[in-house]
Amino acid sequence: QYDATPYLPRRGGLAAHRRAAADCQGCPLFRDASGTVFGAGSPSARVMLVGEQPGDQEDRRGEPFVGPAGGLLRKALREAGLDEDQAYFTNAVKHFKFTTATRGKRRIHKPPSLREMTACRPWLAAELRLVDPEVVVALGATAGKALLGPSFRVTRDRGTLIPLAEENTPGEGTPGPAPGGRGFIVATLHPAAILRAEDREKPYAGLVSDLQVAAGALA
Ligand code: URA
Ligand code: SF4
Repeated sequence: QYDATPYLPRRGGLAAHRRAAADCQGCPLFRDASGTVFGAGSPSARVMLVGEQPGDQEDRRGEPFVGPAGGLLRKALREAGLDEDQAYFTNAVKHFKFTTATRGKRRIHKPPSLREMTACRPWLAAELRLVDPEVVVALGATAGKALLGPSFRVTRDRGTLIPLAEENTPGEGTPGPAPGGRGFIVATLHPAAILRAEDREKPYAGLVSDLQVAAGALA
């Protein structure tokens, strides 16, 4: 059974959790990645952005959303009127999962499995509890499932304020603690999916408009 729980500190704030997460071996993903990419940003953020897992650049630098997808996300945040300096950025899974092409050194991102997502969820739950944001933005299907359970569908559920309540968060049938909390979740597209799209204009506008929904929840 993969599970990060034994590696979580019993007490302490974000800094203590970040230090402890550096030594997490709760699932096999720690083996091949350079290190844990814990969340970063304002510890009192009103908005928390949750991605899937660190990418190649994030793995090299140890910070979330510092690569191309992060660049697109930060631009969209500005256009939606959200201040990136007052946000907290993290991922559902905190180690980079990849395959190496048979020739060359290029590392190609692989989506995390449900077991890895579930194993890593205690870190996300702790970040939610400690940062206690008013709005959580789930970027893509993995983040949506980590926060709202396996029945989450990004195309169906995006762009609306979903209460971050017990009945909407995973728990039943899914091992590990449910990320509880107050406030709302808004789901949207993952910025990396927008970068892969042939025509980025429409999905990018969708990301901005979903982020505006999140901005609107900050009374
Ligand atoms: N994609 C993610 O989901 N998270 C990152 O930190 C970077 C790219
Ligand atoms: Fe621990 Fe998450 Fe890394 Fe797995 S992916 S080793 S659970 S921090």
